[in-house]
Amino acid sequence: MKEMLSKIKEAALAEIAQINFDAADAKVVLENLRVKYLGKKGELTSVLRGMGQLSAEERPQIGQIANEVREFIEAKLENAKKVLLQKEMENQLKKEVIDVTMPGKRSFAGKMHPLTQVLDELEDIFIGLGFEIAEGPEVELDYYNFEALNIPKDHPARDTQDTFYISDNIVLRTQTSPMQIRVMETKKPPIRIIAPGRVYRSDTVDATHSPVFHQIEGLVVDKGVTMADLKGTLELFAKKLYGDDAKIRFRPHHFQFTEPSAEVDICCFACGGSGCSLCKGEGWIEILGAGMVHPKVLANCGIDPEEYSGFAFGAGIERIVMRRFGISDLRMFFENDVRFLKQF
Ligand code: PHE
Repeated sequence: MKEMLSKIKEAALAEIAQINFDAADAKVVLENLRVKYLGKKGELTSVLRGMGQLSAEERPQIGQIANEVREFIEAKLENAKKVLLQKEMENQLKKEVIDVTMPGKRSFAGKMHPLTQVLDELEDIFIGLGFEIAEGPEVELDYYNFEALNIPKDHPARDTQDTFYISDNIVLRTQTSPMQIRVMETKKPPIRIIAPGRVYRSDTVDATHSPVFHQIEGLVVDKGVTMADLKGTLELFAKKLYGDDAKIRFRPHHFQFTEPSAEVDICCFACGGSGCSLCKGEGWIEILGAGMVHPKVLANCGIDPEEYSGFAFGAGIERIVMRRFGISDLRMFFENDVRFLKQF
């Protein structure tokens, strides 16, 4: 029996020494060895089962040797396990090494759309003047887009702003002016806001028209606001946008929701006012509509027109951007051709 035990010990030692730790199945091999030698049906166990036949003197002796053999094999297996874990860790580290000298993959970073760039710039200008930004829905109630702006149903002023009707009372907004009403309904004067955003009209697409475009609305309401404030604000706005020698002029106009109303032109910066192809020989280019908030509109929003007055203006963003970058066709803004967009 002693001999059997020492054979088991030698055999186990030899097999453990032969383990190839780099092999993918090294873990399985190791576990199989454990079962083979130490398991319930293992070699050592079957030897111990035969101990009953031994004499009373031999039994403790053999028992001790058997225990030593068990502990020996256990220690060897434990050691092998450690080596295996170490190897696994090393292999993993090797696999995950990053070669910093490899050429990188260039990722294409997009950039801001020219409309967004200029919109951001406009917002900065007005924030600098103490305005806040207001945003509202593009799907708008007829009431806000027309009625409350003093444009009743069947009024001919609606003809120039034909739009898309969701229902009789819900439209895609044709202008950012409904934001005047939404702001005045919720805020009490002093009010100083700009409202940039998308607007819609059922225009046919061509080089200067699109059924969707962008506007920026401005509104100031307070005690004692006059047309001089409107003019000063817009002059500063033009200078910030087009440079310090930018000149503007007011031309009388009509809007239902302002009185008096004006269209505002900027002196053509291409020719300095003498007339060229950009300004179509006029010397001036129209940039926005403006006026003093109509007393009826103030009253519609619960603001007493005897106590307060205000001005409002609305500018189309596309035209400003086209002039800024020398873009001749408005359709290019919406085609999303990266070759075009990359240029700005
Ligand atoms: N909403 C007008 C338009 O789209 C512009 C405007 C805004 C005019 C504010 C006066 C005051 O034509």
